[in-house]
Amino acid sequence: MPAILGLEAWIERHPGTLQTCGADIPEILGISGPSSVDHCTRALHETISVAVRGVDLLIEEVFLERFGERPRHHGDIFIALSLIQELPPERGFIEAAVNLPLLGIGAWRVALRLAPGLALKISLIPHASQFNETEEQIWKDASPELARWLVPVIDIAHDGRWILMNEVDRIDMSVAGTGQLISCAIAAIESLDPDLCASVDLSDYNFGLSDGKVVLLDYGND
Ligand SMILES: Nc1ncnc2c1ncn2[C@@H]1O[C@H](COP(=O)(O)OP(=O)(O)OP(=O)(O)O)[C@@H](O)[C@H]1O
Ligand SMILES: [Mg+2]
Repeated sequence: MPAILGLEAWIERHPGTLQTCGADIPEILGISGPSSVDHCTRALHETISVAVRGVDLLIEEVFLERFGERPRHHGDIFIALSLIQELPPERGFIEAAVNLPLLGIGAWRVALRLAPGLALKISLIPHASQFNETEEQIWKDASPELARWLVPVIDIAHDGRWILMNEVDRIDMSVAGTGQLISCAIAAIESLDPDLCASVDLSDYNFGLSDGKVVLLDYGND
């Protein structure tokens, strides 16, 4: 049963993170001096909070811009969600709102680079936090054989609003043989856990590459 490593332990295993988040630490926490794992963990937690607020504000802003008023009902939030998906990624609206590089956006969640090698997935609306919680549960319940095909979950918010996973590389479908590699991954996942296979979306865009291996990066929703 794979464990949830936790952000602090992840930073300990990736000491380069101390350099990359070090520059922001004095500014964010009002401290100076060399960054420690503890400082870096606090700084990254603060960065996550800022990004979550940025997502909430963006939802409000796109709706306000289109309809001239703030979203008030549940239905308004869903409309705002679809407006966010229409934003052209190359214009950088999402990155400006959350202050982190964009890795990708799905129907329910946005993936950002919190630090090199570490992906932060924020549910665009609180309702979608259940997908992060499902992902955490599947990771915790996975056999070692199944875990080899899944992107590891590193940490999750107490309310499920965000989840941290290893960052994986994008799959280039134009490379010959890529389709067969994904088919092999699907066959392996199906033989290990047919129920999981039936309940997740095994489209190409939900796979990534980790150290050259094909892995499933989205196993939170169908
Ligand atoms: N660990 C990761 N590393 C790199 N990129 C990622 C990672 N997780 C997600 N992404 C990118 O972000 C996109 C959205 O993430 P994800 O598929 O988990 O969200 P979703 O809203 O559940 O998606 P869907 O629309 O498939 O339901 C992915 O298609 C992928 O491009
Ligand atoms: Mg997806």
